[in-house]
Amino acid sequence: MEIIIAPDYEEMSKISARIIALEIRRKHDLVLGLATGDTPVGTYQQLVKIHQEEGLDFSKIKSFNLDEYVGLAPLHKNSYNFFMRENLFEQVNINMANVFVPQGNTDDPEEYCKWYEEQINNYGGIDLQVLGIGRDGHIAFNEPGSSFASRTRVKALFKQTIEDNSRFFNSIEEVPRFAITMGIGTILEARKVLLIANGKNKADVVASFIEGPVTSQITATALQLHTHVTVVLDEDAASNLVRKDYYNWVRDNKHLVQKMVGR
Ligand code: PGA
Repeated sequence: MEIIIAPDYEEMSKISARIIALEIRRKHDLVLGLATGDTPVGTYQQLVKIHQEEGLDFSKIKSFNLDEYVGLAPLHKNSYNFFMRENLFEQVNINMANVFVPQGNTDDPEEYCKWYEEQINNYGGIDLQVLGIGRDGHIAFNEPGSSFASRTRVKALFKQTIEDNSRFFNSIEEVPRFAITMGIGTILEARKVLLIANGKNKADVVASFIEGPVTSQITATALQLHTHVTVVLDEDAASNLVRKDYYNWVRDNKHLVQKMVGR
């Protein structure tokens, strides 16, 4: 796992956007896994900037979003579909025919989830998966106790997640109790993973996820089993890491490290 600690949110967003842009330039038809939430907003803004100023081309990109609230139609203002259109899709030259966000108001969630997995496979699997992390340690909506073998399915949301996400709704009662989410097994099959986190309120969970034992109670720890994970943090989110000096040394000596380990 490569850990990059940035001084603040803006720098974290710039570094994350550069990592994504590099992959897009390497493979013009990249299959990109995308996340929602407050964390990636700055990263998407930076990607839009790179698109506008440097012509980063999204026209052949395919994208799959991690999750969506059950019951919300794609046009609902609290849906993740709406969020993605507003924060990224409408601001770059992505072809909307190549964009997949789970459909929250599907009549048959079970069949739909199978279909979603099939689409990921049909497009050759996810090349780079972008992730945030919840305060309960979730990636996507894989709440505590989710199987590391899980695939796209419906999950009941954890109390803390409902509380945290109520800030986007008029009241806590309006927050959906269920979501369609890619599974941990789905995420672990992505070729590369980029997890971003910022803020003091993520410091505990970030330390557990990077330095704690692997446990399905903190589903992000499953990423310790993946061979190509980059974590970009701001100073606040990194503040409880015990081995911060080591991660910084590796970052500052990247050329030496690349020469030795080939990454
Ligand atoms: P946040 O959510 O970016 O809004 O903090 C992250 C997550 O729940 O994965």
